[in-house]
Amino acid sequence: MNDEVFPSLETARLVMREVTASDAPALLAIHADAQAMRWFGVDPPTDLGQAEQIVASFASLRRPPATGVRWALARKEGGALVGTCGLFRWNRLWGTCTTGYELARPAWGQGLMREALQAALGYGFARMSLERVEAQVHPDNAPSLKLLQGLGFVVEGRARAQGRWGGRRHDMLLLGLLESEYRKE
Ligand SMILES: CC(C)(COP(=O)(O)OP(=O)(O)OC[C@H]1O[C@@H](n2cnc3c(N)ncnc32)[C@H](O)[C@@H]1OP(=O)(O)O)[C@@H](O)C(=O)NCCC(=O)NCCS
Repeated sequence: MNDEVFPSLETARLVMREVTASDAPALLAIHADAQAMRWFGVDPPTDLGQAEQIVASFASLRRPPATGVRWALARKEGGALVGTCGLFRWNRLWGTCTTGYELARPAWGQGLMREALQAALGYGFARMSLERVEAQVHPDNAPSLKLLQGLGFVVEGRARAQGRWGGRRHDMLLLGLLESEYRKE
């Protein structure tokens, strides 16, 4: 991965581009939907300033030495931001990353995140020399588990009380996908 040029990608329906400050209002609308985001792993933002911090945290992944990449997912038709996805906690020595993602509720159920993750994983395995990608998912997050398992991720274990949001601790499932298992479609 070239640290200077953002690795924009394109899928059938999406442009995957850099998250910028002007995305903060759209990100706020997505992340402030507390019911939709209940398993995301952080307390939802309540104002634009907090959404700007989310933008800053995504941008910081790319600061050299890069520890990951987060793509804004914009519809090719009309350009609306429907969510983000990415790879973080990049361990170059081990060739590993963790994946994370979120979609605006009206964009659910259309296979958009599957499309985006296929491109993101393809990039990670081919251009970041990854050999394993992990995900941590709340056991009740059925759509997320189904999405990942459909891409070939395997549930490897349950980490007790690993997460903390909403004023309590949460068990999390650990999933993993090896480069050798990744189905290029
Ligand atoms: C995770 C997320 C991106 C998935 O969105 P999506 O790609 O539109 O996924 P879908 O709504 O198509 O659901 C994926 C699968 O789960 C199934 N599903 C959806 N809700 C379900 C439920 N309550 N129980 C069981 N299965 C369910 C769908 O039928 C679909 O299966 P299919 O591919 O066989 O048709 C979206 O739910 C989201 O943004 N959630 C909030 C953020 C979040 O939780 N991020 C992940 C943190 S680990």
